[in-house]
Amino acid sequence: METDEIEIRFWAAQAVARDAGRLAAEAYHRRAELDIERKGTQDLVSEADRACEDRIVGTLQHLFPEDGFLGEERGAKNTSAKAVWIIDPIDGTANFLRGIPLWCVSLGLLADGEFVIGVIYNPVTEELYAARRGKGATLNGRKIDVSPAKSLEESRLGIGYSYRRPPGPHAEAVKVLLDAHCEYSRLGSGALGLAFTADGRLEGYWESHINAWDVAAGLCIVKEAGGRVSDFLSGDGLTEGNEVLVSTPHLYPTFSTLLKVRS
Ligand code: IPD
Ligand code: CA
Ligand code: CA
Repeated sequence: METDEIEIRFWAAQAVARDAGRLAAEAYHRRAELDIERKGTQDLVSEADRACEDRIVGTLQHLFPEDGFLGEERGAKNTSAKAVWIIDPIDGTANFLRGIPLWCVSLGLLADGEFVIGVIYNPVTEELYAARRGKGATLNGRKIDVSPAKSLEESRLGIGYSYRRPPGPHAEAVKVLLDAHCEYSRLGSGALGLAFTADGRLEGYWESHINAWDVAAGLCIVKEAGGRVSDFLSGDGLTEGNEVLVSTPHLYPTFSTLLKVRS
């Protein structure tokens, strides 16, 4: 995909994320009134998730009718297109519905076999992370870099879990980290876990299975902030999800060995 085609989508994605974020924030402040459905164990969806995805897809489709879409709530459309938007309208829905301000809108663009744009917006903190291929990563317009930490003793790894996988390996990973004197945080938003790795609040993020819409934007942002990322798209990662590890380049081999990461 040409640089100018990426550039125009990059600026559009930021405006679209802010717009969807406004819509989501308005719903967040009246969350007790929302219709909520259970998709699985500890897996909820509200009318706000669906309304935000409809708004995002509606705007992007109007602007870029030739593009494809893969969204968490509304599924896939034209995914053989040259550019495919990967959308999580609200990542961290459980936090959103509990009034915990760790949730975000996440928009990634897949082209040429990689994530070339990433935009993550938390409307509560008004923090917008943005990156496009080869141009670095920013938080509210300021350049960001991964953490300079050199040892596990000064590190904190974000971790995530869902009942898509058995809990044993997750519990084991917590023990392995603590035995290695590495702190951990379970944030409840994979996208923010990646964003926080990109700006050095965390030294990395790991989850044994996560979906493409949770990480598409974050993988681009972490890479552009100087981090190292696992090969998420290997196998059928795009459609079925995969394990994910992102980290500072220095600590990546250590985390990868400790957590027995496959790629
Ligand atoms: C979930 C969150 C959570 C992660 C799960 C995701 P949702 O997404 O990112 O932190 O552990 O794997 O499914 O349901 O809040 O959009
Ligand atoms: Ca998600
Ligand atoms: Ca979601």
